[in-house]
Amino acid sequence: MSESGTNSPGGHQASRSPELLLPEWDPAGPRRAQLEAGLRESVRSGRLRPGARLPSSRALGAELGVSRRLVVEAFEQLAAEGYLVAERGSGTRVAPATGRGPSSPESSAVDGGAEPSRSATAGPAVAIDLFPGAPDLSLFPRRAWGRALRRALAELPDARLGYGEFAGAPELREALAEHLGRVRAAAVAPDSILVTAGYQQGLRIFCSLLRGRGGRRVAVEDPGYPVACWSIEAEGLELVPVPVDEDGLDVAALAAADPDAVLVTPAHSLPIGAVLAAERRLALVEWARERGALVLEDDYDAELRYDRRGPAGTLQGLAPDVVVLAGSVSKTLAPALRLAWLCLPAELVSGAVIARASLDGGGPRLDQLALAELIASGAFDRHLRAARAHYREKRAALLEAIAAALPAARVGGIAAGLHVLLELPPGVEEAPVIEHLAAAGIGVQGLADFTRGDPRPPALVIGYGLPSVRELREVVATIAEAAAAARAS
Ligand SMILES: Cc1ncc(COP(=O)(O)O)c(C=O)c1O
Repeated sequence: MSESGTNSPGGHQASRSPELLLPEWDPAGPRRAQLEAGLRESVRSGRLRPGARLPSSRALGAELGVSRRLVVEAFEQLAAEGYLVAERGSGTRVAPATGRGPSSPESSAVDGGAEPSRSATAGPAVAIDLFPGAPDLSLFPRRAWGRALRRALAELPDARLGYGEFAGAPELREALAEHLGRVRAAAVAPDSILVTAGYQQGLRIFCSLLRGRGGRRVAVEDPGYPVACWSIEAEGLELVPVPVDEDGLDVAALAAADPDAVLVTPAHSLPIGAVLAAERRLALVEWARERGALVLEDDYDAELRYDRRGPAGTLQGLAPDVVVLAGSVSKTLAPALRLAWLCLPAELVSGAVIARASLDGGGPRLDQLALAELIASGAFDRHLRAARAHYREKRAALLEAIAAALPAARVGGIAAGLHVLLELPPGVEEAPVIEHLAAAGIGVQGLADFTRGDPRPPALVIGYGLPSVRELREVVATIAEAAAAARAS
């Protein structure tokens, strides 16, 4: 093995040469042939990427203990075969389109078979994205976040740049406990909180805790969040779909299905947009206690409620012994932060912390401290108030456009969150409308994409987080056009 470069006897030139790992010499074979074979193989296998710069012939010769001339000849041979290109002033590089070696069997993989190009896999370009889980990313409080992050960086002692704090930075757990008690009526102490990389990771940890208790079957809302279903199945657990109606999860159907745990979104369900009714909350808690089941409360959209009533408090506040509360800043700040939390009954905390530690060693501490600062300084509350006002207006503009252009369509769900469920006018199916919208550059999902059991009346799930009001009006006009075309055909 050979590493050329920084300390090889080629002087200044060599010290700027890139490193290169080549196989050991076989003492029995000619060196030039071995060097050529090694380079050819590295290019063919993709280990040397198209455009990669090679060491200078002087540096490589010195490193390998062969003459510079021998390396030059090997480079020339591979250039002649199309593997390398020599460029005046920038040395020798791997050819941009590699694997073109004469009838190389691996050439298709190197040519792109192994890594399909984006253009080959991407569908039609989406100009307007109605994905329901996306907040308006232009609202992200960049200045406040920047200030909080700089402060965290300035104040974090060196000792806290090491490993540890697997449950999350204590400052964030303090700030979350205060915030969740105040705005969500949750019964949470800092010690019962585990910070997670998004709800998605929290759900995986919940599933592993459930398996540890011998649980096998997990109920989910149907229709509901498909990503949650994928995670549960990936954890080797059985999915038990339970219907959701306008009062939320059907708790009688849940009890009849008798699962070991249930995922529920009491504040605002996706995509129906229901709030779990008061009597169902009580029935759910009673069922969980009697059954010895766990409830994972996904506090989805709880901070984004636009009617006067405001959100109900958490289920967890009613029954912290059986409910694990999950929250996330993906809708209130940005999904890219990957910051979320689980609030756990005492007996589950240590298992959850071990699970997170073994998954990824805990999250990035500076971001956690920035969020703690944002919450503790009041900037998060101010941001939430501004975001609510913004989405309330956007939602009103969307409903107004729907009422004008699609008077026969029904809009489902309470005034909350980032999406509405638009039931299509009688006689209009989802698929042709979705295709029509796609052709116009509008990406939208139908209710069927969220449904596992019996089909529901055709509807579109319209996320209004990302598009502007002008774009939303354009969307509604295009849906009206699609519906008219569908009825006419
Ligand atoms: C129902 C539901 N819960 C939670 C989340 C938040 O997920 P995460 O925190 O992993 O971004 C989403 C995101 O779209 C969601 O749709």
